[in-house]
This record gives sequence, structure tokens and C-alpha cells, in this order.
Amino acid sequence: MPSDSAASPTTPALASPTTPALASPALRSPALPLPGLFVAFEGGDGAGKSTQARLLAEALRDAGHDVLLTREPGGTPIGEKLRSLVLDHGHGEVDPRTEALIFAAARAAHVAQAIRPALGRGEVVLTDRYIGSSIVYQGVGRGLGAEAVRDLNAWATDGLWPDVTVLLDVDEAEGRARRTAGDAAEDRLESEPDAFHRDVRTAFLELAAAQPDAYLVLDARRDSADLAGEILAAVGRALEARAAVVRSAPGPRGGRP
Ligand code: TYD
Repeated sequence: MPSDSAASPTTPALASPTTPALASPALRSPALPLPGLFVAFEGGDGAGKSTQARLLAEALRDAGHDVLLTREPGGTPIGEKLRSLVLDHGHGEVDPRTEALIFAAARAAHVAQAIRPALGRGEVVLTDRYIGSSIVYQGVGRGLGAEAVRDLNAWATDGLWPDVTVLLDVDEAEGRARRTAGDAAEDRLESEPDAFHRDVRTAFLELAAAQPDAYLVLDARRDSADLAGEILAAVGRALEARAAVVRSAPGPRGGRP
């Protein structure tokens, strides 16, 4: 599940428009990983990502880990401003390239100011959405092309990819029912029609299928505590694998001189 194995040249290829977005080893995390672990939660709107990210953060903190729990767009002062610019209604028409660039700009700040420093300190970083959301919503949903959006975001983040991505899979009807259950109003993306959200779901599943070692795909309708247990177990395994890599790495961080 760590990104090293995901970078394997044997990563299976899928004949889908999203496949090239995951197929370039040059854009993956560096061979010598930062000491922390980077976990992204992805999925359609209403999948319950925020709840699962919070439960995982609590469990990891209870186990003694330092955890940064964050979200996209957001996670920095400028990112939160960009969040309201891109998600709130009332800014007039937002064309797809503008939308993709705002998400990428927020992400660049997030990685530079929050995520990379935390990984460098050895923390576990949990982000509610990351590049996968841009590939799927802007690349596929808006039709900009998965590869173009992947490349833009690889540049914006200087090639920082998650070690583990948890994909909470939800269909468009269930997602809409869940997010409109309370009084909450739908944001600009959420209020796109069901067909948009159907494409988003399919594209997320294709991304995960193209890189099975790096993804944990779970049915979002399952019991929340069960989901939390399975996510914690998977992240625990990734933490052990990361610790072994860091221990055996040459240089100041590793065990070898
Ligand atoms: P989300 O944080 O899941 O909304 P909330 O916390 O209100 O449930 O996501 C906000 C919306 O932004 C969601 O519809 C997906 C969209 N989005 C993109 O289109 N591209 C991106 O790169 C990101 C991060 C989010």
C-alpha cells in the first residue's frame, strides 16, 4: 500500500480515460519517503469521508501518533478563502479551467504550508479529499481530461502523492439523500445533476482499480464502526511498512549509516 509499491512498473493499466492519470512513475512520491504517512479520503459527496477521517484521527491519537487532520479545498488561511471562492454560489459563472486552477492553487498552499512540513516531522496526515478529487471532478466531470488535471496537480504539489487512499464508494442517489438529509444546502459542485455524480463515482472506481495497492475501496453504506475498524487496520499496516522503510534507509533518518 505505500507509494513505493504503487510506483511499481507492474501497476496494471486500464483502458479508461482516467488510467493515464495514474500511470506516470516520474510523478510519484520520491523513492526515499518522508518519515510521516500521508492518507487521503476520497469519494462522492455524502459518502461520509469527514466522519471516517475524524474517527481515524481519534484512534491514531489514542495510539500515540501525532496526526494532522485537514481538508481540501482548505487547510490553510488562503486555502479556506479559495474554498469559498470555488464552492459558494454567487460568483457568477466559473469556467472549468478556472475551477481546476483554484483547486490546484489551494492544494499547492496546503502541501507547501501544512502537509509536507507535517510529513517531515513524522506525523500522520489525513486529508479529506486530495488530487483524486480534482482528477475526477474537474478532469472527468468537467471534461478537462484526467491527464491534464493530473499534470497540473503534480506540478502544484511537486509530485506529492498519498501513501494510502481510502475511497468511500457511494452511488449518486444515496449520496444526494445523505447530504440533503439535514438542513445543509448543497454547494456549487454538490448541486450538479445526478449524471455528473454518476460519472464522478465511476471515475473514482477506475482510479482505484488502476492502482489497487494504493487504494482501500469500501462501501460507504456499511456500518460506520465497521468501516472505521477496517480503515484503522489498513493504516496500521501502512505505518508498519513505512517504519520499516525509514529504519532501513541510509542517512540521518534511517538505521543504516
Ligand atoms: P467536500 O469537502 O466533500 O464538501 P463538504 O465538506 O461540504 O461535504 O467537497 C467540496 C466539494 O468540492 C465537493 O463537491 C467536491 C469538490 N471538489 C472538486 O471538485 N475538486 C477538488 O479538487 C476538491 C478537493 C473538491
